[in-house]
Amino acid sequence: MKILITAGPTREPIDPVRFISNRSSGKMGLALALTAIERGHEVALIAGPVSVDLSAIPRVITVETADDMLHAVRRELEWCDALVMAAAVADWRPAEVIAEKLKKNNMPRNLQLEPVPDILGTIAPAKGSRIFVGFAAETGNLLEEASRKLVAKKLDLIVANDVARPDSGFESDTNMATLITASAKPGAPVLMTKQELAGRIVQWIESRGP
Ligand code: PMT
Repeated sequence: MKILITAGPTREPIDPVRFISNRSSGKMGLALALTAIERGHEVALIAGPVSVDLSAIPRVITVETADDMLHAVRRELEWCDALVMAAAVADWRPAEVIAEKLKKNNMPRNLQLEPVPDILGTIAPAKGSRIFVGFAAETGNLLEEASRKLVAKKLDLIVANDVARPDSGFESDTNMATLITASAKPGAPVLMTKQELAGRIVQWIESRGP
């Protein structure tokens, strides 16, 4: 199958040297890409500014902002059979990007934010028969919130992961997670390595076929 994977954070600029971002390392997206390649699939990885080495992945498209990621996903969508959105895309960005580096003594009193377009929401009309997988990074009401996002984002599968624990979610090597679909009752979250979780996700995609 042809599997498109997103990984890492996005960076939303404040001025030429400062940005809003998050702690995503890219480990989950990398584990997914390596697992899919090992299992014989073609992979394209769209990566924000990650802190992991992506040199083992033959096709990497690097991006910076959520807008860049949206454009890259749109460009590659036609090509793929399945999309896995493991990236931690920004939800908000500065409403205005200041052209010159802000001086230390010129601190803005407020930072005006605006919402970032939801990538999954924007591309949903072009889904066709493709398989869409999302992640839900939650610090409370894990199963309820993930199930809500499964429906709201028109996904086939959502990976509910508990990011309140130090051994799960952003930057960690393990995830406390469970897979949720519309048709089955979700199982209890289990602590597993990101490689194990990637294996379960890729096998689920295979079970649905291209
Ligand atoms: O990179 P690591 O350090 O290994 O960490 C992995 C991870 C914790 C980042 C990853 O496992 C994860 O949970 N990724 C999704 C994080 C996230 O943005 O969750 P969310 O619940 O806010 O978003 C739900 C889904 O919508 C996600 O699939 C996300 O990619 C997508 N989204 C979010 C915002 C946006 N503007 N557009 C989107 O499409």
